[in-house]
Amino acid sequence: MTAQLINGSTLSKTVCAEVAMRAAALTKKGHQPGLAVILVGDDPASRVYVRNKIKACQESGLYSICDRYPATLPEAELLARIDALNHDPAIHGILVQLPLPSHFNRRAIIEAISPDKDVDGLHTVNAGALMSGAPRFLPCTPYGVMRMLTAVQIPLEGSQAVVIGCSESVGKPMAFVLLEAGATVTLCHRQTRDLALYTRSADLIVAAAGHPKLLTADMVKTGAAVIDVGINRTAEGALCGDVDFDAVKEIAGFITPVPGGVGPMTISMLLVNTIQAAQRTLKTYS
Ligand code: GUN
Repeated sequence: MTAQLINGSTLSKTVCAEVAMRAAALTKKGHQPGLAVILVGDDPASRVYVRNKIKACQESGLYSICDRYPATLPEAELLARIDALNHDPAIHGILVQLPLPSHFNRRAIIEAISPDKDVDGLHTVNAGALMSGAPRFLPCTPYGVMRMLTAVQIPLEGSQAVVIGCSESVGKPMAFVLLEAGATVTLCHRQTRDLALYTRSADLIVAAAGHPKLLTADMVKTGAAVIDVGINRTAEGALCGDVDFDAVKEIAGFITPVPGGVGPMTISMLLVNTIQAAQRTLKTYS
C-alpha cells in the first residue's frame, strides 16, 4: 500500500470529543443542544443510520428525540410535527431521514423545517447560502469530507477536483465547498461520457455515485487523494464503497476506507451542526 489511509473512525472520535466539550459548556448555561430525528417507514438502512445518530448524541451529551412513524403516515401529520419541533426551544436541529416513502413531497417536507434548525443543510435557504459563498449549515457529508482533507493537510487551492455523483446532499454541495476552497471542480454524473478522462487528471476525487467499485486504479493519477463516500452492499452482504480500494490504494496518495471512512464523519458533523445551531440561539437570546 502506498496511499496514506485517512481514518474516519479515529478522526470522528476527535470531533466528538470537541463536540462533547462544547455541549457540556452550553448545557452548563442551560442550553443543552437538542436534535430531533424523524424516521418514516422501515427502510433497514435508514433504521441503522438513525440509531447511530441517536447513539452519537447520547455519547456526546446532546439531548435527542427520535420519532418513528409508519410509512402510511399522512403528509399533513408529518408537517404538523415539524412545525411543533420548529417551535420547541429544547430542539436546535431537525433531521428527517431520507429517503421518505414515495407518497411524500420530499421538497415540501425539507422546506417545512426552519432554516435555523436545518442541520442537514438541505433547505433552499441553506443551499442558497452555500452557493453564494456565505454558508450557514454545510450538509454533513461534504462537511465531514472537508474535515478529513484538513486533517491530513491536502492543499485545495489551485487543485483539480472531480466529484462523481450530483446528489442534493453530497455531490452538489461538495462541489461548491471545494470551489470555495479554491479548487477547480468538475462535477461528473450518470450521463458523463468518459469519466476516466476527468478522473485521470484529478488531484482529488470524491466518489459519491452509489456504484460499487466504480473508480478503478487505471482511472486515478499517481498520488491523488481519493475520498470514498459510497456505501454499497456486495451480493454477499458486505459493505463496499464506490472505489476499488485494494487496487486504488497502490496508486493514490491518500485514501479513505469503507467502512470507517466518511460514514462516521457524517454523523460527527451532524453533531457539530447541532452545536452550532444551539450556539446561534444562545447568541440570539442573550
Ligand atoms: N439519508 C442518507 N443520507 C442522509 C442525509 O445526509 N440526511 C438525511 N436527512 N437523510 C439521509
